Amino acid sequence: MTQDFLCCAKSDFRRNTVCIARKADKAQCKKDKSGSVLRVIEQVYRPHTMKIAEITKNKKKYLSLLLLADEQEDMIDRYLDRGTMFVLDNDGVKSECVVTDEGSGVLEIKNIATAPKCQGLGYGRLLIEYIADKYKNDFSVLQVGTGDSPLTIPFYEKCGFVRSYIVKNFFTDNYDHPIYECGIQLTDMIYLQRKLT
Ligand SMILES: CC(C)(COP(=O)(O)OP(=O)(O)OC[C@H]1O[C@@H](n2cnc3c(N)ncnc32)[C@H](O)[C@@H]1OP(=O)(O)O)[C@@H](O)C(=O)NCCC(=O)NCCS
Repeated sequence: MTQDFLCCAKSDFRRNTVCIARKADKAQCKKDKSGSVLRVIEQVYRPHTMKIAEITKNKKKYLSLLLLADEQEDMIDRYLDRGTMFVLDNDGVKSECVVTDEGSGVLEIKNIATAPKCQGLGYGRLLIEYIADKYKNDFSVLQVGTGDSPLTIPFYEKCGFVRSYIVKNFFTDNYDHPIYECGIQLTDMIYLQRKLT
């Protein structure tokens, strides 16, 4: 596997790293007897070990993460080869993201996921900020499509995206089985956008 490791020294990245450490601190206060939380704290307090890698080969190695965001593998196959994949590693893989060039200055997040035990620590936001910074001179808009779900829309809104347009019946037309989130069946694809320039 070729991994072109990118050491992120930009100030935004450092600021977000500090932010993750603070969040883990908060988590410790809530669950100070949880071994898993304490392990996370050890990791995030070593920010110099955090790296974002572009993955160019064997992207399916990260299938378990990809399936968290898009549960049907043949739908992932529609964009994985043509997409650019990034993995955030902080003493272990924490998050991944796949982006595609949709033309007309639009870069689309096709898949983003954080390992379940590491969600809510800022890794997803960190990947989005990294991508927004990396592509700000090449694309005018970063967009993402998602189901109308309270598990995803608030995350994107917190990351600066605003609702843009809807593709009716995307999930019912394209997936071979009904998809439920929070007990509600997803039907339409909601697109959100964030300006890059
Ligand atoms: C959605 C997902 C990628 C977010 O990644 P994450 O690393 O947990 O997100 P972060 O910790 O960076 O969160 C960034 C901000 O969004 C907020 N946020 C995240 N999920 C949220 C939710 N469901 N509701 C409200 N706010 C949420 C966080 O609280 C944080 O806000 P803050 O910085 O003001 O405290 C992650 O939950 C995930 O992997 N989910 C499963 C896969 C998936 O659904 N992917 C998206 C497919 S469209």
